[in-house]
Amino acid sequence: MVSKEFLQELPKCEHHLHLEGTLEPDLLFPLAKRNNITLPEGFPKSVEELNEKYKKFRDLQDFLDYYYIGTNVLINEQDFFDLAWAYFEKVHQQGLVHAEVFYDPQSHTSRGISIETVTKGFQKACDKALAEFGITSKLIMCLLRHIEPEECLKTIEEAAPFIKDGTISALGLDSAERPFPPNLFVECYQKAASLNEDLKLTAHAGEEGPAQFVSDALDLLQVTRIDHGINSQHDDELLDRLARDETMLTICPLSNVKLQVVKSVSELPLQKFLDKNVPFSLNSDDPAYFGGYILENYIQVSKDFPHWDHETWGSIAKNAIKGSWCEEKRKEDLL
Ligand code: HPA
Ligand code: ZN
Repeated sequence: MVSKEFLQELPKCEHHLHLEGTLEPDLLFPLAKRNNITLPEGFPKSVEELNEKYKKFRDLQDFLDYYYIGTNVLINEQDFFDLAWAYFEKVHQQGLVHAEVFYDPQSHTSRGISIETVTKGFQKACDKALAEFGITSKLIMCLLRHIEPEECLKTIEEAAPFIKDGTISALGLDSAERPFPPNLFVECYQKAASLNEDLKLTAHAGEEGPAQFVSDALDLLQVTRIDHGINSQHDDELLDRLARDETMLTICPLSNVKLQVVKSVSELPLQKFLDKNVPFSLNSDDPAYFGGYILENYIQVSKDFPHWDHETWGSIAKNAIKGSWCEEKRKEDLL
């Protein structure tokens, strides 16, 4: 098994990280206080109680219920900045060099907070991460799939200035998967893509949903990356397609265990993906909720796949760089 020091030193890229999912309990309670937010009846009262709840979620929806309550404490541009900056400070210590990070504007605009406030706060933290740590980053705006597609179209209009000027680099799709398949969002993806030909497209698919949702995201939404995608393992033709087109899956090992998608990291089809040349990266998803940031995810995988040597890990790190949406020059420098 490779050492923790080796994994720490590997230049790591993260492609599946929800900024709202970096809200640690020890920031959630102070922010609630700072912004005079009353947490709902029955919500844990202390950092310890909340950490206890985060030890296990029944499924994706059980987690999302907590996740959306957490987002309510974020109000001002400074809050969004503080949240993202805390993330960059942590992962800088872990050898992260490039991050493509999600955020959910609709979980804020639905509370009367403008997309501008949210985006500017996050963007300022990204700028500071580049200036202070040399970490490059991209913002990916996600649509919440439990919100009506018509509403989502309005969100895209609100975000249009940031899509047009490139502040938002990509569009994603998250929240409860099974009841809200990709076909509902065809028009949204077309509309967003029409605003900027450089906009990248991705979607959560095949986390709790079937392999068919992965194929549908590729065919109907024209995405060039799949978030999670682990249920692709059940469709060999799809795996061949992902390998042939070099479509990267952004795998989140600790998340999959915490949300009971798998019992343990060893159950993940990572060896199959390697053998079939399906590109993937390893990511933390919602680290404040799932018990680990990017390095902890790498370490857990190394424990569950102890036969992977330095060369295997080197190729995983390289594939993550190759699959990134950063500028070609940056990729060359990292490779
Ligand atoms: N899946 C779906 N929606 C999400 C996730 C996830 O893993 N994390 C935050 N929102
Ligand atoms: Zn996710």
